[in-house]
Amino acid sequence: MKFQFHGPVELPNGKTTSTDIPKHVFQIAIALILLTVIPLFINRNSHPPLMPSPKIDSDQYGLGSRGFEKKCDIFAGKWVPFPRGPAYYTNETCNLIIDQQNCMKFGRPDTEFQKWRWKPDECELPLFDALQFLELVRGKSIAFVGDSVGRNQMQSLLCLLASVVYPKEITEKYTSDNINFKHWFYADYNFTISTLWSPFLVKASDADPSGHSYNSIMNLYLDKADEAWSANITKFDYVIISIGHWFFRPLMFYENNQIIGCYKCQQENVTALTHYYGYRKAFRTAFRSLVSLKDYKGMTFLRTFSPAHFENGDWNKGGNCVRTRPFTKEELKVDQYIWEMYFTQVEEQRAAAKEGRKRGLQFSLLDITEAMLLRPDGHPNHYGHSPQRNMTLADCVHWCLPGPIDTWNEFLLYMLKGEAQTTFGRKLQRIA
Ligand SMILES: *[C@@H]1O[C@H](CO)[C@@H](O)[C@H](O)[C@H]1NC(C)=O
Ligand SMILES: *[C@@H]1O[C@H](CO)[C@@H](O)[C@H](O)[C@H]1NC(C)=O
Ligand SMILES: *[C@@H]1O[C@H](CO)[C@@H](O)[C@H](O)[C@H]1NC(C)=O
Ligand SMILES: *[C@@H]1O[C@H](CO)[C@@H](O)[C@H](O)[C@H]1NC(C)=O
Ligand SMILES: *[C@@H]1O[C@H](CO)[C@@H](O)[C@H](O)[C@H]1NC(C)=O
Repeated sequence: MKFQFHGPVELPNGKTTSTDIPKHVFQIAIALILLTVIPLFINRNSHPPLMPSPKIDSDQYGLGSRGFEKKCDIFAGKWVPFPRGPAYYTNETCNLIIDQQNCMKFGRPDTEFQKWRWKPDECELPLFDALQFLELVRGKSIAFVGDSVGRNQMQSLLCLLASVVYPKEITEKYTSDNINFKHWFYADYNFTISTLWSPFLVKASDADPSGHSYNSIMNLYLDKADEAWSANITKFDYVIISIGHWFFRPLMFYENNQIIGCYKCQQENVTALTHYYGYRKAFRTAFRSLVSLKDYKGMTFLRTFSPAHFENGDWNKGGNCVRTRPFTKEELKVDQYIWEMYFTQVEEQRAAAKEGRKRGLQFSLLDITEAMLLRPDGHPNHYGHSPQRNMTLADCVHWCLPGPIDTWNEFLLYMLKGEAQTTFGRKLQRIA
């Protein structure tokens, strides 16, 4: 199976995020929250969260029950002006920005979108410190598993680290597919970054053997983890999982090698299921595989759903993203499907965290959805190019570099530091 990377062409169906939300959406969201979140929320302060996400689990870092200092919820906050941005690099100082995300190179006229930083409500999010990051990951490896938005975060990380050191690309040592799989090695730190292409996490194939188009059906084997990642994942210390946008295309769902239903396949003899059904099962299968892989000792992050911001039409009907500033919380209108994608994946992550804990595995959230909902200005729109790209389509799914996606790696560093303290705390306990 091979997917080609053609910029936003590969993303079958973004949706608009700007339509008015009917009241019932809030009711559904609130019902979901009541069912899944409230017990974890008792300690939150009075500020009503924009997106009341279930992230403050006192045990997210394995710390709460041990009486260590409670961590700040870095994912609830707001964007504040940062006039001297971009904070870390430009298209001139980092030469690893790919054309699809190199918005300045391709003529994006405004720069204000690079001049904001995320301010958590309860604390400060430190600037990304490349040296500190590299020391923390010395001798280790990170895999980004998922689709091209996950790769987008990897590209951001490469540029954030480039102020200290450039990696050597070692992809060809492992694979001839150097588009969908990439491996970078930092010799001075014996540190590896990889991207493993798996836009569904489960085994998938084109229903039409001659390839796929925007609206062709993909077969998903919902109970089989995609070997593109699962066959080689045990050697990684950190695994960042993320999927989403491929689930809006027509899908045929298999379990036990039998068709059990489909999404948008338009076959009357096949049961219609929602894409949330497949999305949930894909996470469940992926997380269960990780828990059951005996040699896997890594820390798993679910990077939550990254919202698209098409306005003025759907992704293939002239939709675009021309804004140049973040939304304020008052301006923000969120489509129901984003909440549903989010809660679906977070519920599966919680179940995995519980199972994983039994054998000492950590499953954490890189909970970017709320922050990124506020950044309609962060996408390439028409200022990202790739050779095969149909330029009449805007890319409101990926994120410009530099840009707000750099914040994801600030979050990541913060969490790695938290993890380091946990390990230290555990060591202390062992010694005591
Ligand atoms: C960087 O962007 C500027 C526009 O801001 C452009 O003139 C320049 O050619 C770009 N340089 C590279 C190396 O992409
Ligand atoms: C580099 O890290 C790997 C684990 O990722 C380890 O097996 C190896 O011994 C390390 N090499 C050196 C030279 O420290
Ligand atoms: C797993 O890694 C090995 C090399 O370490 C490579 O030969 C193989 O193709 C990889 N498997 C997959 C499914 O990517
Ligand atoms: C549904 O019907 C079509 C033709 O009408 C057939 O090709 C297909 O195999 C059927 N699918 C199932 C799951 O029975
Ligand atoms: C590009 O996309 C537009 C809008 O979907 C479509 O009308 C046009 O035919 C496409 N062009 C090519 C060359 O695929």
